[in-house]
Amino acid sequence: MTTLFDPIQVGDLQLANRIVMAPLTRNRALPGNIPGPLTVEYYRQRATAGLIVAEASPISPTAQGYLDTPGIWSDAQVQAWQQVTQAVHAEGGKIVLQLWHVGRISHTSLLPDGEQPVSSTNQTAKASTFTRDGFVPVSAPRALRDDEIPGLINDYRRAARNAIAAGFDGVEIHAANTYLIEQFLRDSVNDRTGPYGGSIENRTRLLLEVVDAVVGEIGAGRTGIRLSPMTTFTAPLDSNPQALYGHVVEKLAPIGLAYLHVIEGETGGTRTPEGKAFDYEALHKAFKGTWMVNNGYKKELATSVLASGQADLIAFGRLFISNPDLVRRLREGAEFNALQADKLYGGGAAGYTDYPTLA
Ligand code: PHB
Repeated sequence: MTTLFDPIQVGDLQLANRIVMAPLTRNRALPGNIPGPLTVEYYRQRATAGLIVAEASPISPTAQGYLDTPGIWSDAQVQAWQQVTQAVHAEGGKIVLQLWHVGRISHTSLLPDGEQPVSSTNQTAKASTFTRDGFVPVSAPRALRDDEIPGLINDYRRAARNAIAAGFDGVEIHAANTYLIEQFLRDSVNDRTGPYGGSIENRTRLLLEVVDAVVGEIGAGRTGIRLSPMTTFTAPLDSNPQALYGHVVEKLAPIGLAYLHVIEGETGGTRTPEGKAFDYEALHKAFKGTWMVNNGYKKELATSVLASGQADLIAFGRLFISNPDLVRRLREGAEFNALQADKLYGGGAAGYTDYPTLA
């Protein structure tokens, strides 16, 4: 029976165990959206994970929606990320970068020349974002024109190329949590006509073009993707999530991606939203490739899900923030450090690199 501590080949990557550090926004980047020395230390401390999915990183200046998130569009960012990937590799770890475009979850104060956020729609999300002035309502977006999509795809392509230049073992395309790609996927947000709106096939087009560009640039074996069919976060669910995400997975299956990463239930919340059943196993069966699951896993559930073959990899978020040596603690059945929830977003070493390891 498979356990958390068994190695696995995931696309081009050989992982030491099944324990993944989930992507986690921490807002510690330096001016220029550059990961600094504290971020190097933070990931080094967590390098015993079978795989680290480094935090969501904007692919372009327009792609950012929260203060002080590290980017992957500039040469300075690539050089800074090299320090992170070298530190993780020196400890024997593996690390991929999550490629992010927030779409309409942004604020003009965060964008170049105070420009408007872009999305599939002109409609403003009922959501807040974190700016220099704290949490504020997101700004009104403008719908991308169809003729702007090729430029957007190019930003993903450049980001994937930059991630490899920065020493990452691969990338994870962020198609979850109601950010740009999901703003195209869901009919609760996407009110377009034309090739990127209307039918499920059209709403899936942007995602598939992004995947195609990234895979063309760095190879399918170094490309993963993250989905969240039942997360509401900043947008309502699609009118038919099973059909929508079933179609997405059916189209992804033949591409041979390294893995598919699914958030079960509400991101960071309940795994079983009331009255909202979703058949994740149907997606898993249709995908056939490496299946990564996330959301509130503890050792018992993780162990049983791996043993039954329902998943190949388990991603841990909050537990990895407060326990840099999570792999050892899981193996030894040790207690976990408590999360300092007031230190998740922004600040310095406190609640970031100062969580204790076992003696
Ligand atoms: C957040 O900053 O709150 C955040 C970022 C990326 C996610 C989810 C939440 O995928």
